[in-house]
Amino acid sequence: MGSSCLSGGGSLQGSVRVPGDKSISHRSLLFGAIASGTTTIEGLLPAEDPLSTAACLRAMGVTVSAIENAGIVQVEGVGLDGLQEPTQVLDCGNSGTTMRLMLGLLAGRNDRHFVLDGDGSLRRRPMARVAKPLAEMGALISGRDGGNKAPLAIQGQKLQGTTIRTPVASAQVKSALLLAGLTATGNTTVIEPALSRDHSERMLRAFGADLISQPKASAGPTVIVQPGATLKGQHVVVPGDISSAAFWLVAGLVVPDAELTIENVGINPTRTGILEVLEQMAAPVELLNQRDVAGEPVADLKVRHSPLQAFEISGDLIPRLVDEIPILSVAALCAEGTSVIRDAAELRVKETDRLAVMARQLRAMGAELEETSDGMVIPGGQHLRGAEVDSETDHRVAMSLAVAALIARGQSTIARSEAAAVSYPSFWDELARLQRH
Ligand code: S3P
Repeated sequence: MGSSCLSGGGSLQGSVRVPGDKSISHRSLLFGAIASGTTTIEGLLPAEDPLSTAACLRAMGVTVSAIENAGIVQVEGVGLDGLQEPTQVLDCGNSGTTMRLMLGLLAGRNDRHFVLDGDGSLRRRPMARVAKPLAEMGALISGRDGGNKAPLAIQGQKLQGTTIRTPVASAQVKSALLLAGLTATGNTTVIEPALSRDHSERMLRAFGADLISQPKASAGPTVIVQPGATLKGQHVVVPGDISSAAFWLVAGLVVPDAELTIENVGINPTRTGILEVLEQMAAPVELLNQRDVAGEPVADLKVRHSPLQAFEISGDLIPRLVDEIPILSVAALCAEGTSVIRDAAELRVKETDRLAVMARQLRAMGAELEETSDGMVIPGGQHLRGAEVDSETDHRVAMSLAVAALIARGQSTIARSEAAAVSYPSFWDELARLQRH
């Protein structure tokens, strides 16, 4: 187990290019696998989570070339029903996206049996939110806790399309159902309580799937998938991950004298909740060089140290910044006024219970904040002190605590800092490169 030592009192200067979007990386591998022909992927995130997806696909007979920094990844598609029954357990590692999307992809693979497992964190996470609606389509999935927890066994079945109202605004749930719908009999309609990230819809359409999106439907954001279309291999360009950029955005705003440019960041509107909150905080964030890259909007973002106002977030905004709440809790400590986060109970079932873990770790640095059942109340204007803290194995907690350590007085040690490699393997090296002492 590794740890990282960081001292407050320095600054941050320079440009950084964040690695590829994690959500888009998973999808490019999965959709490439079930397309016909070759898919080439530029900018795929070379981190532990996408490696888990690639390893599962290889175990089912899909050829995926080596995933290395800056290289093009090639996926030889096996077609919609070409995945082979694996002889081993499919290890999803720490990746909820891998496990949930695999459930949807594999439930309809008739006459084949699959077992999905993951690490200690993933085994604690709820899977019934996917398994239950899939069961309505005829899927046979069993597991611990009444089929809610991994290890999960899937006995592939012929599925029937139906209309499903998802219990949470989750792109993982939505995407799993869309994948199942691709080979079901009849149409599958997915209605969400609020709009979640739409990368699956955009990319499936680009691969040739028959998909109708109605994000403003009166029943709630709706996607309808019609089976029958053949997916064709594509060239996918993965933009930088705004969820990884978020650490630099906040660091650039709260660290004295900092100025950072973050290049090639995906700014899909279903992901830009963080930019809206920063605007609420009166933060000077410049969007430069806005462009479209392979169906996703992209920009460079520039920030500099600046006073911040408190924020309040809740409701439909939460799914659009769900992964950024840990780092926003650090930003709130530096703002003027008290910030309030509501309707974010989903954070309790992420890689860790992120509300409890952030509250615990920031308190160890001297912060005063209130943890509520579905959020936090965080008074601003606080001064942190260096301390021994712990990522508790959560990648986004590790990186959020790094930013907190930069504004603390004295030295901090972040235990289990290697967790960052789940989504951002070069984070610690980039931080060392940008630091000015
Ligand atoms: C993801 C969706 C989000 C997010 C996760 C990645 C995806 O989860 O937290 O990091 O790729 O679909 P939920 O959809 O469960 O909110």
